[in-house]
Amino acid sequence: MKLVIVGTGYVGLITGACFAEFGYNVICVDKNNDRINKLNNAQCPFYEPGLENLLLKHLTVTKLLSFTNSLSEVVADADIIFITVGTPTKRVENQADLSAVWEVAEEIGKKIFNYTVVVTKSTVPVGTTLELKNILSSNLESDKFDVVSNPEFLREGSAINDFLRPDRIVIGTNSKKSENIMKELYRPLYLNETPIVFTNIETSEMIKYASNSFLATKISFINQIADLCEKVGANVNDVAKAMGMDKRIGSKFLHAGPGFGGSCFPKDIKAFVSTAKKYNIDFSILNAVNDSNAIRPINIAKKILESKKYKKGNTIAILGLSFKPNTNDVRDSTSLKIAKLLIKKGIKIKSYDPKAMNNAKLEINELIECKTAYEACESADAVIIATEWNEFRALDFKKIKEKAKKLVIYDLRNIYNPKELRDIGFEYYGIGT
Ligand code: UGA
Repeated sequence: MKLVIVGTGYVGLITGACFAEFGYNVICVDKNNDRINKLNNAQCPFYEPGLENLLLKHLTVTKLLSFTNSLSEVVADADIIFITVGTPTKRVENQADLSAVWEVAEEIGKKIFNYTVVVTKSTVPVGTTLELKNILSSNLESDKFDVVSNPEFLREGSAINDFLRPDRIVIGTNSKKSENIMKELYRPLYLNETPIVFTNIETSEMIKYASNSFLATKISFINQIADLCEKVGANVNDVAKAMGMDKRIGSKFLHAGPGFGGSCFPKDIKAFVSTAKKYNIDFSILNAVNDSNAIRPINIAKKILESKKYKKGNTIAILGLSFKPNTNDVRDSTSLKIAKLLIKKGIKIKSYDPKAMNNAKLEINELIECKTAYEACESADAVIIATEWNEFRALDFKKIKEKAKKLVIYDLRNIYNPKELRDIGFEYYGIGT
């Protein structure tokens, strides 16, 4: 099977590399020449564990993977075309901006000659895949193509594993022919007993938004519980642990923290709310999730500033700038939001992140860049642990005690035992503890 993947962002590159790993011939397309040149040298545009090795393997050893900037040249040979272009939030009305999807549709419609399956893998609002069909129909006979919705559920930082060992695959089709082709495509996973859910196209598109929204709701829920825990002397870690033991609730995505970030949850919730509004459906739950998550970093920064009455010229160390560990992605990073608010109050921010320093500096020039966590803590009036990178999980606090000016820790990911740090002499603030 020959696959063409249009768009070399997160979803596109992981999908391309992993389908090559299955043994398929894959061509990834992007109109960004610089990106394509780098990819042809196995240079990944972002940090994702294991991805560069996989690119290298399939570019140079198996030669199953290639990159080009010319979509029109590769369309005719494809059995399946995946659309994995970005769908950012529009400036007005919070809808998903689908202009990149439509652009691809116009271009491929003119170049398909033999039957081809066109798949939306980007996260797209309900109705998009059928609208894609309409656009393709203006250039193509109906027996020359089918459209399919096949959303992706991978997480940054563990994307390859998520792709190769997913909890489920969702495929929305409206023809038996395309359903069989997609079944064949995912046969390597089917053999591993990965469940495949076949459904209609609208349902498949809806599953993606409903899944992300539910996970985001779980996080916002436990974050508000954490706020109450702080007031009444309860411990949110124990609350979440015991709640999670109930199989109906489950323990995942119940870690209280500074709020969710990243390129997906914030954008997808806004787009989902916008879809509901269009159909006059009350989505008050998701509106509340959106609002409570937006205010969270503001409240946390306020709490930090008030806890010790920090003033202009004080220095705070921030450990972790990416929106989560194992990525250099700083999109909607709560860590950066908090940093910006503290900088606004005249606080100097010394910061360290294992991978996201460069991206963070592009967003906040005032960040003082440090080469290690310990360098960041030097002469600091307080230390904020903002992202739970593994290397922050076993910091040498005796060393930090020698370096820091004041012994105050804000552990926004609850990765430390408060008593242990207090015993060493630190003033410890967690979330909901
Ligand atoms: C998310 C979903 O988990 C993926 O299934 C989905 O495919 C992806 O969006 C997408 O739509 O492309 P991702 O954004 O990579 O993946 O990251 P998550 O691991 O879901 O974390 C999102 C945010 O929630 C992070 O800021 C994280 O720190 C926060 N979080 C997560 C919590 O605060 N508490 C938790 O218990 C879990």
